[in-house]
Amino acid sequence: MEKQDVIPRMGFGTFGRNGKEGIDAILCALETGYRHLDTAQTYDTEFEVGEALRRSGLKRDEVFLTTKISTDNFGPGALVPSLEKSLEALRIDQVDLTLIHWPAPYGRIPLEVYMTQIAEAQARGLTRLIGVSNFTIALLEQTEALLGKGKIANNQFELNPILQNKKLANYCQEKEILVTCYLPIARGMLSDEPVLRSIGEKHGETPEQVAIAFELAKGYCTIPTSGRPERIRSNFKASSITLSPDEIAAIETIDRDHRVVDPDWGPKWD
Ligand SMILES: NC(=O)c1ccc[n+]([C@@H]2O[C@H](COP(=O)([O-])OP(=O)(O)OC[C@H]3O[C@@H](n4cnc5c(N)ncnc54)[C@H](OP(=O)(O)O)[C@@H]3O)[C@@H](O)[C@H]2O)c1
Repeated sequence: MEKQDVIPRMGFGTFGRNGKEGIDAILCALETGYRHLDTAQTYDTEFEVGEALRRSGLKRDEVFLTTKISTDNFGPGALVPSLEKSLEALRIDQVDLTLIHWPAPYGRIPLEVYMTQIAEAQARGLTRLIGVSNFTIALLEQTEALLGKGKIANNQFELNPILQNKKLANYCQEKEILVTCYLPIARGMLSDEPVLRSIGEKHGETPEQVAIAFELAKGYCTIPTSGRPERIRSNFKASSITLSPDEIAAIETIDRDHRVVDPDWGPKWD
């Protein structure tokens, strides 16, 4: 089995799902059927994820958990203890997938410093799989040269029908690195997209459902979030929609490089 085959493609994002309302939303996602939760040290939702998992009554191995290492924890000797703190907050012994959240701002910490530490965290059993987020092709190449082929299971980056990131996504798929789409419904900006609307109207689906179905049809993992139960459920229903090859081809034409998350300190995008 390929290592990426164990990663459920329909995930639930937890950015903004803080506090009691956050726990309720994450619990609703688990009750709806999501079996992959995406958290991060900087979201401050690791406790909420662990608590929702505990309240759901599901077994630990029934839910795939991803967390991400903050760029603040890249210094020599800092990454492993930070992941141990994440495990404490989640109240688990091992996370399924740990990602480097962003390459070091302005490249100020060499890649070797943090990538060797995340590999060490995996060797110590703190995480089953390791991966990256917001990595460009050049950074993925440097990582492969450092750690060897096949070590990186996943690259998570902004991808949705209006930012299809085809060059990077194709590169990842060639290298058998699973693509995870963040902002998969472009934070609610897809409702007026004519192509998504017309495909959705034919089948009684929302533009957001069509977007999620498109990402899954491309073989990507997708992690939409919402604080509202009806949206948590309708987004999940997209995982049972099958788009025709013509519909997929039509959606491929609406890419317009519409990037939202683009900090000054981030890498130069492909
Ligand atoms: N690796 C990274 O650097 C990175 C960066 C950003 C995000 N992420 C991850 O990706 C996840 C998803 O990204 P995101 O939360 O930024 O964006 P998103 O999932 O594309 O959009 C979420 C927003 O859309 C609204 N929404 C949800 N379902 C909807 C629907 N069916 N129709 C209309 N609006 C809807 C939600 O509002 P309501 O709550 O009001 O429904 C929420 O404001 C995050 O939670 C996080 O886990 C990772």
